Amino acid sequence: MCGITAYVGNEPAANKILASLKKLEYRGYDSAGIAFFENEKIEIIKAVGTISELEKKMQQKRISSNLAIGHTRWATHGKASLENAHPHSSQDKKVCVIHNGIIENYQTIKNELKEFHFASQTDTEVFANYFSKNLNGGYLLEDVLRTLGKTITKMKGSFSFAIMIEGFEDKIFFIKEKSPLVLGVGNGFHMLSSDEMALDEKTEQVVYLSDGDYGFISKNSYCILSNGKIVKRRKLPFTAQVQSVHMGKFTSFMEKEIEEGSFACFNTMLTLLNQNLQKLEEAIKNSQKVFVVGCGTALHAGEVFKYVLEKECKTDVFLDYASEFRYKKPNIDKNSLCIFISQSGETADTLASASYAKGKGATLVAVTNVKTSRITKICNIVVLTRAGVEVSVASTKAYMAQLSALYFLITIFGKVKNEKISFSPTDILEIYNQKKEIIDAEKITLVANHIKNEKSLFFVGRGLDYFLAKEGALKLKEITYIHCEAFAGGEMKHGSLSLIDDESFVVCVLTQKNLLDKMMSNIIEMQSRGAKVILFSPFSELQNKVFCFVPLKKLKSHLMPFVAMRPLQMLALKCCEQKSLNPDMPRNLAKSVTVE
Ligand code: M6R
Repeated sequence: MCGITAYVGNEPAANKILASLKKLEYRGYDSAGIAFFENEKIEIIKAVGTISELEKKMQQKRISSNLAIGHTRWATHGKASLENAHPHSSQDKKVCVIHNGIIENYQTIKNELKEFHFASQTDTEVFANYFSKNLNGGYLLEDVLRTLGKTITKMKGSFSFAIMIEGFEDKIFFIKEKSPLVLGVGNGFHMLSSDEMALDEKTEQVVYLSDGDYGFISKNSYCILSNGKIVKRRKLPFTAQVQSVHMGKFTSFMEKEIEEGSFACFNTMLTLLNQNLQKLEEAIKNSQKVFVVGCGTALHAGEVFKYVLEKECKTDVFLDYASEFRYKKPNIDKNSLCIFISQSGETADTLASASYAKGKGATLVAVTNVKTSRITKICNIVVLTRAGVEVSVASTKAYMAQLSALYFLITIFGKVKNEKISFSPTDILEIYNQKKEIIDAEKITLVANHIKNEKSLFFVGRGLDYFLAKEGALKLKEITYIHCEAFAGGEMKHGSLSLIDDESFVVCVLTQKNLLDKMMSNIIEMQSRGAKVILFSPFSELQNKVFCFVPLKKLKSHLMPFVAMRPLQMLALKCCEQKSLNPDMPRNLAKSVTVE
């Protein structure tokens, strides 16, 4: 994944780069680095860890350069280490690059560069040396541009680069191929960034670079080429909210965002209710097949959608992980409605699946939280969730907002297909308005205390609750590093029950009245093998039948995800806090997964 940023302009570049990197940190945070000019030579500072580690190192040096490039990394090639952190230089130190993406044929290219010594395991350093070799000491602007053009055709994969070259103290060069890169235009400066949100707040216009574009930025101008020719790309007003999000009274963004989850549902539903839906209704009317695609938490929201839509509207839904979807070559045609769920709207697998479906002529709906994201550019219809910026890597309020948007879609399906739906948008608004939710924080803290040192935990549910169990397990494993696995209750006895002994903790979700007896049988089966069951349920009559009972408010059965999920998110958070881990930046992960 990684985030790249570059600044050249009137002001000292170091602070601009730092501010931008902080906004890009969601793309990866295992190491970071900056390069700038000092006495006409390229200087580099790198640090392992988050941007704050880089900031500490930068504070030890006076950086006066008005041109710099910066990088925050999520390791793809080579572990998180100083050697592998960006920027990377060519062997002669005259070319310095930062990179987002993957060069798929880097090994072949590396084999052609026998005369070079490589200091890192990265594909980026291969690029730096290949580029420098082909530049062949040519330090005229046209040589550089020609070499950029040659390099972009040589590399396979998805990548964007920002490049500094000794002898060009006033220019930053770039390449964009399939990985995001925007160009920001301001009064007396230009910037490049993986995400427009990370452009300087004084940016006036933004240029969305196209795949195959390369060129340079300088203080007062920029130049874009494609296939050897100068091209013009549209300059649009810079409207992205430069949102500085604060934790406020909370101790982590995750805590804040769990709190905001209920409002995110409300806000999403309210906004959708006030929108013109003609296009959406038309698309649903014309659809003969419905596909739902996403990753991680987004797909878990999709599972709830599939279950409820199939029950309420007798409409079959084909659902899959975005990383699997297109390889199965699903039978999509122009009568298919494909729904892509993605908080960020930038997840590489989801984008690739959307492009696949588009190629088959389907109508595409994006359910996303980011209005300017790439998924909105691919899909025909955009259903925006209104969760606000989600910072924590563990997705919480975005899931709640996705549920809200997806339930809204179910009501539209009902209207179009003339099916009576058991809930209305007002029911969802009321959950927030009338505080129809209880979160027993004390009880949840107690449960966290019981399970925090476990090596392995089971999450079990049936029907709709199975999907909540899956999301609860994902949340807990993601931020506590405890192995958590979710099972459908009835499946336990087909193999997994053998894992249960008198040391096992099992988190059960039981919110569906029609499955109460069946689920209780499964609970008893597990208890008979010694399991300590922690039950999240609105059925208070069960409280003495388990090791620990976490009460939920009782709503119509299909609305139960709206009150069951936040307590499960809270359990993950409490556990993480008790283990003194950082819930916002779990190891090995990134907020936005922009590589396939
Ligand atoms: O931005 P997206 O919704 O496309 O992201 C999908 C997943 O990467 C994401 O939901 C991930 O599973 C979360 N970190 C889970 O908390």
